Amino acid sequence: MGRRIGIGLIGYSFMGRAHSSAWRNVAAVFDTELVPALAVISGRHEGPLKDAAARLGWTDWTTDWRALVARDDVDVVDVSTPGNMHAEMAIAALEAGKHVLCEKPLANSVAEAEAMAEAARRVAPSGVKAMVGFNYRRLPALALASQLVVGGTIGRIRHVRAVYLQDWLIDPAFPLTWRLQRGLSGSGALGDLGAHIIDLARFVTGEEISEVSALLETFVKHRPEVGEADGLPATTGEGQGSVTVDDAAVFLGRLSGGGMATFEATRFATGRKNGLRFELNGERGSLGFDLERPNELELYESRDGRDAGFRRVLVTEGDHPYVSGWWPPGHVLGWDHSFVNEARDFLVAVETDGALSPDFEDGLAVQRVLAAVETSASERCWVNVEPSGRYR
Ligand SMILES: NC(=O)c1ccc[n+]([C@@H]2O[C@H](COP(=O)([O-])OP(=O)(O)OC[C@H]3O[C@@H](n4cnc5c(N)ncnc54)[C@H](O)[C@@H]3O)[C@@H](O)[C@H]2O)c1
Repeated sequence: MGRRIGIGLIGYSFMGRAHSSAWRNVAAVFDTELVPALAVISGRHEGPLKDAAARLGWTDWTTDWRALVARDDVDVVDVSTPGNMHAEMAIAALEAGKHVLCEKPLANSVAEAEAMAEAARRVAPSGVKAMVGFNYRRLPALALASQLVVGGTIGRIRHVRAVYLQDWLIDPAFPLTWRLQRGLSGSGALGDLGAHIIDLARFVTGEEISEVSALLETFVKHRPEVGEADGLPATTGEGQGSVTVDDAAVFLGRLSGGGMATFEATRFATGRKNGLRFELNGERGSLGFDLERPNELELYESRDGRDAGFRRVLVTEGDHPYVSGWWPPGHVLGWDHSFVNEARDFLVAVETDGALSPDFEDGLAVQRVLAAVETSASERCWVNVEPSGRYR
């Protein structure tokens, strides 16, 4: 029987559901010494919050997130709210000595991300952990991709080609929710989708993005205002409001190892629902991934012969990352399993007082790239990214 670790989750909607499922299931899948107790969930509206608490398996609920942070039965604070609340909540939790899992992007600005990373550094000597929720690192295929690339299988990286494509904004009648308001979300497709592929580029290559040149666009500049969405500040509910974030972001990046990277993040890729595709070309081979086939890697290793070509690697073997906790070979995993794997890594880091990634330094590194992209797009020039020191 493992030791109890109390979880307090702030946010009960999309990520709230995904994280609840992860905390509920992780100790049943992996042999962790720490066993999460779903102590308390928070949100701002009592009715839907109470329903969510019952449905998602939480013992208690509160509309006061500060009360959640202060509770003795909470050891981990999971911040799954829009970006405007990340810094305040995560810093309060760290200062109260709680471990923090914070959704991505880490913050809405570099200044906030710096303050969060600083707070995490201050409490790290006492074993307090802080992680940012770039869950795609936890898909077995992408974790294996990182191991192969960092291990040198395809040699020095020449190209990274990363796209993250959605289409939920193509209808101009789609309302002005929090994701379209800069004060709440920080940025649009850039911080939402672009942050994931920036993190993946860093994770898989083990290199930083050292400079960028970018183009951002907001195709639909006004949208119907909504009364209230998920407890976020009410707008008038009448007429049209301004969209204050990007709908799409395209940018070039230089990798610290000398390679080139291209990134595209958009909510206007008609027909594409959650199309994350990633390809790397190295001096000795190439590697490809498509989220619509999340258990597979395409691998090309240069060699002679008429049968040379890309081969499909099914990443479901027991010695592939994370797979041993799950099912026999070929019994495929999906998007939601990445959150369970994320919770497992978090618990192991707490349990062993071990290193954890992506930590708030990684979150800050991504935030710096996001900010450089915005500066580049507005000033129409190349912008250097301050090095994080994490990767070469
Ligand atoms: N890792 C991923 O793949 C992924 C996917 C989607 C969203 N996200 C990130 O997760 C976070 C939440 O996004 P979401 O899609 O779950 O949003 P959502 O709108 O579905 O849910 C937001 C939740 O936050 C709560 N909330 C808002 N302000 C609050 C406050 N002041 N106090 C307490 N609760 C508050 C709302 O009540 C709601 O339950 C964002 O940072 C987003 O970027 C990550």
